[in-house]
Amino acid sequence: MTIHPLVVRITHWINAVAIVVMVMSGWRIYDASPLFGFSFPKEITLGGWLGGALQWHFAAMWLLVINTIVYLSYGAASGHFRHSFFPITATSVLHDIRSALRGRLAHDLGVYNAVQRTFYIGVIAAIVATILSGLAIWKPTQFKALGFLMGGYEGGRLVHFFGMSAIVAFIVVHLALVLIVPNTFPPMISGSATKQAASDAPDCKEPT
Ligand code: HEM
Repeated sequence: MTIHPLVVRITHWINAVAIVVMVMSGWRIYDASPLFGFSFPKEITLGGWLGGALQWHFAAMWLLVINTIVYLSYGAASGHFRHSFFPITATSVLHDIRSALRGRLAHDLGVYNAVQRTFYIGVIAAIVATILSGLAIWKPTQFKALGFLMGGYEGGRLVHFFGMSAIVAFIVVHLALVLIVPNTFPPMISGSATKQAASDAPDCKEPT
């Protein structure tokens, strides 16, 4: 049975590549003019120098923006978001956090639990906020109103930095969860689960 629609899988992996390039080149750009009292080690940055990092950042930016628009449009139009991320209630989130802390969080393939739903909605919001703040500091004159909403140029830089930090924090937790529940990984490539694994997901209502 199909667990992850093709569009979700393609946009997920393009997003993963684009985000890694954006973050690593972004760290190199940050190092040229640090906002805080620290720099990122050169070994984990991309681009070699400011000019090179800017080229990587702007190249991956188009990939990320176009990919995000495709993912959001598909998710909204196909009902994917409605089926996979909702409903989500404070009670279900608290319940699943308690279960996770006790190591008893159920994970049915194809059905996201409340903690996953919260994290996925959160990271999508962080990506959108990071893209918008990026626009505000890239073209401060053209996107003046956007910059104004973020408290000006310096405010936009802060939103951009904390958006990046939220995305990186998500990636750390996301990868840890994939390692803890490794049978979630193959379906994110093939789209489907084995009969045995899929029988654990009777509630999957994902469109194929
Ligand atoms: C190599 C890195 C990555 C791996 C191995 C990975 C793996 C996965 C897997 C296995 C799932 C399905 C989880 C399940 O069925 O329970 C998933 C879903 C998801 N991942 Fe990743 N992921 C990676 C990078 C990322 C990044 C960088 C982001 C965003 C910053 C991201 C955002 C998401 C989202 C939003 C979903 C839900 C997609 C949907 O159903 O619409 N992932 N990922």
